[in-house]
Amino acid sequence: MEYEFAPMEGITGALYRSTHRRYFPGVDRYFMPFLPVSQHHAFTRRELRDILPQYNEGVPAVPQLLTRSAADFLWAAGELAAMGYREVNLNLGCPSGTVTAKGKGSGFLAHLPELDRFLDEIFSRAPLAVSIKTRLGLRDPEEFPAILAIYNRYPLAGLTIHPRVQRDFYRNSVRMDAFARAMDSSSLPICYNGDLTTAADCAALRSAFPSVRALMIGRGLVANPALAAQAKGGAPASRETLRAFHSALFEGYASAFGSARNAMLRMKEIWFYHIHLFEGGGRYAKQLKKAADPQTFSACTGAIFRELPLRTEAVPGWRQQAAEPVS
Ligand SMILES: Cc1cc2nc3c(=O)[nH]c(=O)nc-3n(C[C@H](O)[C@H](O)[C@H](O)COP(=O)(O)O)c2cc1C
Repeated sequence: MEYEFAPMEGITGALYRSTHRRYFPGVDRYFMPFLPVSQHHAFTRRELRDILPQYNEGVPAVPQLLTRSAADFLWAAGELAAMGYREVNLNLGCPSGTVTAKGKGSGFLAHLPELDRFLDEIFSRAPLAVSIKTRLGLRDPEEFPAILAIYNRYPLAGLTIHPRVQRDFYRNSVRMDAFARAMDSSSLPICYNGDLTTAADCAALRSAFPSVRALMIGRGLVANPALAAQAKGGAPASRETLRAFHSALFEGYASAFGSARNAMLRMKEIWFYHIHLFEGGGRYAKQLKKAADPQTFSACTGAIFRELPLRTEAVPGWRQQAAEPVS
């Protein structure tokens, strides 16, 4: 069973991926946050800092594209192939209203004849393997059989299914019945994604669906960066390793952004999940969020590392918190 780090825009950029890999084993592949391919056929400097091979040395990373234009997809795929990538992932899962309104991400699932033509074109001409990350549909999981029938016609390198529909965003439970039906109706290499937080969650998924090729984890891995290693039988992270990982990240961001304040803002996104690895973290969560300067923020994380008991597994308190993720 392979373990994949889910793409998380605003969190799992190049610096996060390489730092995570330095401190924690267990992740077989890191999926990059989506690149919204522009019709001008040029990557921005910021995008290049995420995708160029020198920022991903030693990290098995897969880039992801968000577009509904086959020409734009093929342009970007050609650039990525020239950089040495062997696979590109298509985002058909993003639920954000601004994305779906343009018929992209999970919004593309409302236009099946167009999606079929798009896939026909990219699979006949793409210079590298193509995988897809998808939701079950827009409103109703009953949409998925027709969507899957289209995917089944193409030689996908992999199909990652997040078994929610667009209007779920990240609310409600994952729809395991629909996932089970999909497993029965496809011989594509399938990866499961959604709400895995503990090694026991991963083991349950593996035993319920032995033919699943990979498990992709997002929030659970940000909360507990040792989760993939633990799911493979490894030990939980020590306090010292976690602390060193966070110092390396904070310092890395401060130097990359040239601003400790911007580094703090990025670290807050990470701590939104990571705080749930500490017992009694709730009382610090508000302080972390409110911290107005890097000194206050570091004093707060220092107190957390010193004072709070470390759990061996995260408790997914973020599911109760109101936040509409960007993707
Ligand atoms: C802050 C945030 C950013 C995300 N960015 C992306 C993205 O760029 N591309 C993508 O396919 N999914 C994105 N997702 C979805 C995750 O990859 C994943 O499918 C989702 O979080 C469910 O998996 P999990 O329960 O293991 O976190 C994002 C999710 C969150 C919370």
